[in-house]
Amino acid sequence: MKVLIVEDEIDVADLLQIFISLEFPEAEITIATDGQMALDKLSVLRSVDFIFSDFNMPKINGGDLYLEVRKQFPNLPFILVTSEEPKKHKQFNGANDFYHIDKPFSDKDINNRIVQIQAGVKPAAGKSRDYVPIDVRTLQRLFKINTAVYLKISAEKYVKVLHAGTEFNQSEVQRFSDKAIDELYIEKIEFENFIKDFRKNVFARLAWEKVKTEEKFDILADDVALIGKASRIFGWSPAVVELAQENISNVINLVKSEPNFAKLANMLKNEKNKKLASHTILLTFMLTELATRMNWASQGTIEKLTFAAILHDIELDDDLFADKQTLMMHDEILALKETDPDSKLLLHPIDASQLTLNWPMCPSDVDVVIRQHHERPDGRGFPLGLAPFKISPLSAAFIMCEDVIYKCMIDSDADLKNYFINQKEYYSREPFKSIYPKLLEIFL
Ligand SMILES: [Fe+2]
Ligand SMILES: [Fe+2]
Repeated sequence: MKVLIVEDEIDVADLLQIFISLEFPEAEITIATDGQMALDKLSVLRSVDFIFSDFNMPKINGGDLYLEVRKQFPNLPFILVTSEEPKKHKQFNGANDFYHIDKPFSDKDINNRIVQIQAGVKPAAGKSRDYVPIDVRTLQRLFKINTAVYLKISAEKYVKVLHAGTEFNQSEVQRFSDKAIDELYIEKIEFENFIKDFRKNVFARLAWEKVKTEEKFDILADDVALIGKASRIFGWSPAVVELAQENISNVINLVKSEPNFAKLANMLKNEKNKKLASHTILLTFMLTELATRMNWASQGTIEKLTFAAILHDIELDDDLFADKQTLMMHDEILALKETDPDSKLLLHPIDASQLTLNWPMCPSDVDVVIRQHHERPDGRGFPLGLAPFKISPLSAAFIMCEDVIYKCMIDSDADLKNYFINQKEYYSREPFKSIYPKLLEIFL
């Protein structure tokens, strides 16, 4: 592997060289201290595998060097190393085949980029970089974060707050929570690696076995949130489907291994479970409990309900999920149908059920449950407004459990027992009617 480093500050050039040769001892590294020298070296070397270049340099700057390199070596990976936004410079404005690393950089910034380029990751088309929000508590699960972490300052501006390879310990967490920051950002280009790291860390056999059930619940919820984000970025690629599949089997195993864990009432009062991702795991616990009481608890049924629980709202993000609670009101559904018939909210049951149809491992009927999860016992749901007798029993169980969760979201002090006693009339038609007494039992 041949690397050309172009940097007029010799300390910075040395640092780059050290970082690269520690990770890639076989690398042959050449240093040029300005753009002209870089071109001279290139003509002697004929070709190199990577150029790391500064922007501000004597004689020929990094921008003009880039243009010249592109003429002579159209496919040579060019990595601009600068603290400035590349687009500010005319040579990079509109260019789309260069990579960018922020200064100051860490060894991980440099080496990750080499590995990514070797793996065929394309440059981010020169546009301003895209970022993915990550919960601070998700970051906290990683012992070490192998990618740079950013703070969002404004719609367009992000600043690096942690270098790649930083240990995200309690004091780091405190630093952000003191400022009421609960989300940080990583670059989109790093997201796949981030998920891999996350899973490697938290699902490693030894680590996972030591984790308490409540903690497992939270981890799986964080994982669902990451999978939702991944699906919005990469689509339902085979890799993302595989992640979701693994999550679903982890959830099934957790529920199976802890049948008595379902302290549902407590879990319902927990703030965290009012978020999109955790409500799916909570739903799984509740449905498993209900299915057992209904004598439906064959492995097949639990699996179907778990698939449906994890995937039913996967097309929504947390903002839309918050909105969705108001959709329990019939008037609001009607209003939305009028004003925004293509709204993601109205379509999410159909979109998510469509997804499972192309999913080889997904059991049958999961699509039905997902498609029907916003239908109502009074026939006034969406997307179809089905009459209750057309709603499948599994869907009815699902709908009722979601009702419990939403009730708790809207009114955290709800007396669930009384609430359900008063709902008897509402659930008086089949298939809701036969499920109703069993659901009541859970909360008695
Ligand atoms: Fe939904
Ligand atoms: Fe839901």
